[in-house]
Amino acid sequence: MYYSDDVIEEVRSRNDIVDVISGYVKLQRKGSSYFGLCPFHSEKSPSFSVSPGKQMYYCFGCGAGGNVLTFIMEYENFTFPEALKLLADRAGVALPEQEYSAEARRQRDLKESVREINKMAAQYFYFQLRSPQGERALRYLTDRGLSDETIKRFGLGYAGQYSDALYRYLKGKGISDQLLKESGLMQVNEKQGMYDKFWNRVMFPIMDANNKVIGFGGRVMGDGKPKYLNSPETVIFDKSRNLYGLNYARTAKKRFMLVCEGYMDVISMHQAGFTNAVASLGTALTSQHATLLKRYTDEVILTYDSDEAGIRAALRAIPLLKEAGISTKVLHMEPYKDPDEFIKALGTEAFQERIDHAENSFLFEVSVIQKSYDMKDPDGKTRFFQAVAAKIAEFEMEIERENYIEAIAGRYQISFEGLRKMVANVLMQGVARRKAPISVAQQRQARPEKEDGILTSQRLILTWLTDYPQLFATVSSYIRPEDFSDELYCEVASMLYAQRKEGAVNPAQIISHFTDPEQQRAVSQLFHTEVKVENPREMEKAVRETIFKVVEHTIAQKSRSLDPADIKGLQELVDAKRRLQEIRKLHISL
Ligand code: CTP
Ligand code: MN
Repeated sequence: MYYSDDVIEEVRSRNDIVDVISGYVKLQRKGSSYFGLCPFHSEKSPSFSVSPGKQMYYCFGCGAGGNVLTFIMEYENFTFPEALKLLADRAGVALPEQEYSAEARRQRDLKESVREINKMAAQYFYFQLRSPQGERALRYLTDRGLSDETIKRFGLGYAGQYSDALYRYLKGKGISDQLLKESGLMQVNEKQGMYDKFWNRVMFPIMDANNKVIGFGGRVMGDGKPKYLNSPETVIFDKSRNLYGLNYARTAKKRFMLVCEGYMDVISMHQAGFTNAVASLGTALTSQHATLLKRYTDEVILTYDSDEAGIRAALRAIPLLKEAGISTKVLHMEPYKDPDEFIKALGTEAFQERIDHAENSFLFEVSVIQKSYDMKDPDGKTRFFQAVAAKIAEFEMEIERENYIEAIAGRYQISFEGLRKMVANVLMQGVARRKAPISVAQQRQARPEKEDGILTSQRLILTWLTDYPQLFATVSSYIRPEDFSDELYCEVASMLYAQRKEGAVNPAQIISHFTDPEQQRAVSQLFHTEVKVENPREMEKAVRETIFKVVEHTIAQKSRSLDPADIKGLQELVDAKRRLQEIRKLHISL
């Protein structure tokens, strides 16, 4: 980061968060906050809140949150400097140029230029498609069932017959060979020098979530090889972090996203009204793709090709998506190969029906596993169910396990009780193996509810300190920043206490100390923890009890780790316990 905290804080404080977010989301005042439909997940009733007091936003539905800079980064898919620039411009703050290091400036300028070149190329291809030379390409696309509107929407184009047409065009615009090399649009070879990577192909511009062209795919018209050519990785094109069609899909506001393999699949689905379709473009789905998807949805329906390769791709994608917190279903396309062919053959309604009947990813995995066992052989059958039982045992919650046992029992020839016993056996074996002395970390894991409870109480304290600064005197006389159990909580509490000492608390500034959006989200959560109360009296009671709980927890921790020979420590503990009782009588006024 090349900007000083002061500059960042100036830009942040000159952009009122309600003003900025109102430009993107329709907000309505409710009490001291504003509410609207969350732009980061799809929902029908508003759980997205913007607090003018805290200068922060937080979604009670999906947990997205942060300050005005976080919002721009997340919404526009901007890097931090890009978001800062946008908001500085908006507020008329001049950003100090010299704060860029020379290397950072060079990288920024390079990216800017490569973006510009890709945009020029897209315009060039687009124009070619509509010129007389592009006639055959246009016919190819319309023959494949694409409407004029679709061709326009996806910015499709044509790279002309000659292998130096784009090169000459861009040279004419004054672009240096060095930059052309970086653009990913050229190839270099000793004899011919520099020439176009794409020629005589229909062109699919690849756009990032922000509608900026970052690369291309080019398809031969007919059966030539390779069928598709793609831009190589460049300073602006990272295949593992971009999804084709996301620029449109992210605003589709559907409950789920459709993830497929190719350009034509995305385009066909969008044309048929399934505007929530994206593709990972020839590369396997990565964990970065999964994280990207999670920004927009909690559910993915995989619409990979129905061949061997598609099934393998699905099996690899499912755990990655699960890891990112996305639940997955698998859509069956048989007897067709891919969504494009399916929709062309059977139409929109039939495809919608397949969506409605998409298979739960676990049952899909089981059906694949089943193929490698001989179910007619009693031995094979036993081994199959053992494998399934082991897989079911991996689910954390009993209710999940029971649901899957029921689903499997309904599908395959085994009784609910029979399979349940097998799963129980697997779980027992796991426990037996773990009988060794338990470490502190494991103990902690074994008591997640209790830990969760105390963390929630600590979060509530942090939230209230920002909502009711008058609580500071009371809270800080009982709770010190280091009493918060989580490292992040501790850090945030220290900053909050320090701000209070200096003057007013400023939660939005605290967010700026964290550069990772995931951390910013976690910090926002600390300031937006809710408790259900009926009236102010109950609220005051809740505050008193929460302070009590947090202090009690700190004392318990201390007494556990106290050395019995430590007389001074022992005395402190006795004092602390006495003061703990005072809390019950505290007068809290909000
Ligand atoms: N792909 C690629 N290079 C290839 C073949 C495929 O990059 N030589 C990528 C493309 O993104 C393509 C996707 O993999 O869209 C799926 O490939 P495939 O199923 O072979 O093509 P389709 O998408 O069905 O393309 P089309 O319908 O145009 O034949
Ligand atoms: Mn196809």
